Amino acid sequence: MPRAGELPHYPFGFRGDELADALRGFLADAPVTRVVTNGGWPAWLVTGYAAAREALKDPLLSRSRAADPAMPREEKDPPPLTVVGTMHLLRGAGLREEAVKGMGPRQPHVSLERVREIADTLLARMVARGEPADLVADFALPWAAEVTCELLGLPVRDAPELAGWFGLLATGRAMEEHLFDDWTKAMHHFEERMAVIGTDGLLGRLVALNRSSDRPLGHDDLVEIAVFLFLSGLGNPAAFLALCALVLARDHELAARLRREPEALPRALEELYRWSVMLGDSITRVAAAETVVGGVTVRAGELVLISTDAANRDPAVFDHPERLDIDRPPVPHLRFGRGRHFCPAAALNRAQTEEAVRALLDAVPGLRLAVAPDEIRWREDHAVLLPEAVPVRW
Ligand code: HEM
Repeated sequence: MPRAGELPHYPFGFRGDELADALRGFLADAPVTRVVTNGGWPAWLVTGYAAAREALKDPLLSRSRAADPAMPREEKDPPPLTVVGTMHLLRGAGLREEAVKGMGPRQPHVSLERVREIADTLLARMVARGEPADLVADFALPWAAEVTCELLGLPVRDAPELAGWFGLLATGRAMEEHLFDDWTKAMHHFEERMAVIGTDGLLGRLVALNRSSDRPLGHDDLVEIAVFLFLSGLGNPAAFLALCALVLARDHELAARLRREPEALPRALEELYRWSVMLGDSITRVAAAETVVGGVTVRAGELVLISTDAANRDPAVFDHPERLDIDRPPVPHLRFGRGRHFCPAAALNRAQTEEAVRALLDAVPGLRLAVAPDEIRWREDHAVLLPEAVPVRW
């Protein structure tokens, strides 16, 4: 078996509209293979669809072990907050169920009308300022920041500053360079906000319930939960909306069809969830005991990286997987995970993104890219893939 230094280094690229060549190669030749992480640890990389589903559902592949500093991991010095820590804190105080409900499709904190209104206002401002505009800075990031502020009950006036915190999702070199200062600033900001949080939004509700919990969380724990939930609401939703916007700005036929056939939009979004490449890191697990993934034996303590991006483009499951085809027969993609950690906000994100995309199609009928498609640059070294900018005209 090769040593860590001789293994291919994961991740392989940062484009959100194209699967890296190396991942395509592994899908064909080795759907479970050995790689080395940013932190220098060897790991199993799972790319095949069947193997990825199996791994996500395998109870022996543990997410909490993947957050244990004694275990191999993706980054040398990972950020201070993890999904494991957040869910563990919420469960400990008996608040997990309430939190999951508050991210679900029937959450009472931000209506779909309001989500649409936020999108309409941003787009009207953008159009009024004149072309060219940038659908990342002028639309996707501020939209996700505002919607999440309202969902969580944070002051919406903070949204422009908070949108800039996408940088907290840095990995690899970018993380080593400035992450510590950025995290200190973010924690400080949320310490102040959580000290005066009202009763609105999911955080307000959790704080109120926490007061009557027989195992209440302390202020620092609530701050951690707030920062983590804010980043969950900002990162993936902004990146996915930016990708949708990029696709619509460069594929005029698709945009025209979705204007003509608005009922096709949910199906188109489902295909975009499949086709998009969103992970600058991976979904990680550590084996609690020996297990088998895609026919390969994984020993206890070994790190497993699951690339749902690659799995969603497995030619064994999707014909011409690189083709964005909104008429393809439905096959469940793995964009929101699978099994016991399935994203609690999946249905909410579907409904909210649909509102935002409809707003874009309606507000900017002549939408087109202001640069050649191959001039779009992607942020390097981030856990969620986002274009630097999507310059457009109309
Ligand atoms: C495009 C949008 C989104 C995508 C692609 C996405 C993706 C995912 C995935 C793949 C997982 C599973 C991770 C694992 O198995 O380890 C997950 C879990 C989670 N997501 Fe999302 N997510 C999105 C939006 C959101 C939003 C808007 C929120 C909250 C405001 C959120 C909160 C969470 C939480 C709390 C978990 C952990 C659930 C648990 O462990 O029980 N997500 N998400």
